[in-house]
Amino acid sequence: MTATDVRPSPDAGATAHAVAAALRTIGRNIDALGDRYPADTTAGNRYPLRPPAGGLPQGSNVGWTTSFWPGMLWLAYDLTGEERYRHAALSHVESFADRVDRGIDLDTHDLGFLYTLACVIPARRAGHRRARGAALAAADHLMTRVLEPAGIIQAWGDLDDPRQRGRTIIDSLMNTPLLFWASDATGDHRYADAARRHAAQLRAHILRPDGTTFHTYYWDAETGAPLRGETEQGHADHSCWARGQAWGIYGFSLNHRHTGDPALLAAARTCADYFLDHLPADRVAYWDLEFGDGSGQERDSSAAAIAACGLVELADNLADRADAYRADADRYRTAAGQILHSLIDGYATAGHGGERQRGPEALLRHGVYDKPKGIGVDEGNLWGDYFYLEALTRATVTGWSSPWSSPR
Ligand code: GLY
Repeated sequence: MTATDVRPSPDAGATAHAVAAALRTIGRNIDALGDRYPADTTAGNRYPLRPPAGGLPQGSNVGWTTSFWPGMLWLAYDLTGEERYRHAALSHVESFADRVDRGIDLDTHDLGFLYTLACVIPARRAGHRRARGAALAAADHLMTRVLEPAGIIQAWGDLDDPRQRGRTIIDSLMNTPLLFWASDATGDHRYADAARRHAAQLRAHILRPDGTTFHTYYWDAETGAPLRGETEQGHADHSCWARGQAWGIYGFSLNHRHTGDPALLAAARTCADYFLDHLPADRVAYWDLEFGDGSGQERDSSAAAIAACGLVELADNLADRADAYRADADRYRTAAGQILHSLIDGYATAGHGGERQRGPEALLRHGVYDKPKGIGVDEGNLWGDYFYLEALTRATVTGWSSPWSSPR
């Protein structure tokens, strides 16, 4: 493919066809999984069950990605209005409530990803009291990870772990919506204040002057001084991990949506412009933006799916501000459409399922979880599937109500 082959936004027929394929796969995966959870990534393009962990059996609710499965079920409901998807999505609430009640695998900032999709949605839409309580408990737990005086949220691990102490990662911008929701739901501004400070710190330090982002950044937990950036899943400390940049587009846009801070909107634009300037001909990023066509490296379709959603969120933020931004908003929306079209044509599974006994199939192939560690390389993954379906939902359902940005 050459640059002149860049596809326009998919038309309604192509989008509908892609949605139908995704829904066929989701329907089969509901039957295959029941109340169990798939692994983070596929192995040979099929999801195994989540491996046993911490004395819990295979398929248990551990790790940072389990909520993308109920998140997809809510999207399927939004796309169809069919009660069976809503019923399936609601059936996961108890598992997430039990997880936070029992303190299972909570030492992570990814409580935002987990509880926004699994519990904030049913709390907001269905008035589900158990889900609301669980989401608030998760927000309270996330608040225990705020480190003063830096005012940052530690990303991973025990707060006393010297390797992780004071460390943030760019993905955390997607976790702050849980805190903004908690403030809206309770009237207690402390959650939103913490989210606002964290986002401002990331803007000041994880975003580099050349428009790229560090994957992770350390603060001195005692003095609050910013220390250094480092990668974990990117190619090098100073390269630009593609998924991190995509999280930056979407995350800074969402934090702007919640705060109205123009500096966060500018940061989202900076991330978007660098990302779009470093895409290969088919508009689906290689796993690190250092790599391009001919590099022999793998693409990360999940970075593309996240960016496709983030660019639309960015465009909506710009369009809401003033007419002067309309041309830029259109440019980002067009870029999102091109990426989505390429994902539909070259990366999505067809929804035919193949041999049923091989297990749940991904919606999107050719993602990369962690190339340096050799995990989930050129495989499907749960977040890629979720954001691909979110991009299709954004393209299909006018006025779709986003779980990341809607109040209450
Ligand atoms: N949030 C972890 C990742 O993107 O791999």
